[in-house]
Amino acid sequence: MTVRGRFITFEGTEGVGKSTQIANAADTLKKLDIDCIVTREPGGTPMAEAIRELLLAPRDEPVNELTELLLMFAARAQHLHTYICPALEQGQWVLCDRFTDATFAYQGGGRGVSSERIALLENLVQGDVRPDHVVLLDAPVETGMVRARQRGALDRFEQETVSFFQRIRDTYLARAAVEPSRYNIVDASASLDQVSRRVSELMCKFQSDLL
Ligand code: TMP
Repeated sequence: MTVRGRFITFEGTEGVGKSTQIANAADTLKKLDIDCIVTREPGGTPMAEAIRELLLAPRDEPVNELTELLLMFAARAQHLHTYICPALEQGQWVLCDRFTDATFAYQGGGRGVSSERIALLENLVQGDVRPDHVVLLDAPVETGMVRARQRGALDRFEQETVSFFQRIRDTYLARAAVEPSRYNIVDASASLDQVSRRVSELMCKFQSDLL
């Protein structure tokens, strides 16, 4: 019988170094001989990537927070059921750049949608699928915003205010505090070497926990 893979998500505010650390995590898992795939949200399949473009494009028309919330979950339904779940069932580990914690943080903390509404959609779309481990890359909002601005043109989310991102960071930390066994907070304001070492250690720990 194939053992189900582990589902690991990477979260954080803008510019905390998620892409670099997911690549580092995938490298570490490969060295441990673990078959893994790397994907992202919103996105991860052609249709979900098309929804991502709709969501991130700056636009003059105000975007209603429920429209944004439903599009996030529409992309997630497609991604989860056509890509993530089949991979997990085949025993692959899935490293995902953001997942539903981002919805609680951005649409909940950031936009003010109630967590009850988000949880309703979470249950509808995901059933009982939840990440096995969440790696939360945490850094002061200003540090990340400077890094994000250096990357070039800002998307619809990156154009938001410092206080929006502060609420997001607070929401992530509050969620992590409630379930410390599933959430792993990594200080992303440390040096690149230190952050990479910590993330690699976590991957080794997730594997050894299974032995
Ligand atoms: P990325 O820049 O990390 O790829 O993420 C794209 C943006 O989408 C980012 O600003 C966070 C936002 N987002 C949400 O608002 N809610 C969600 O559920 C997800 C997955 C991402």
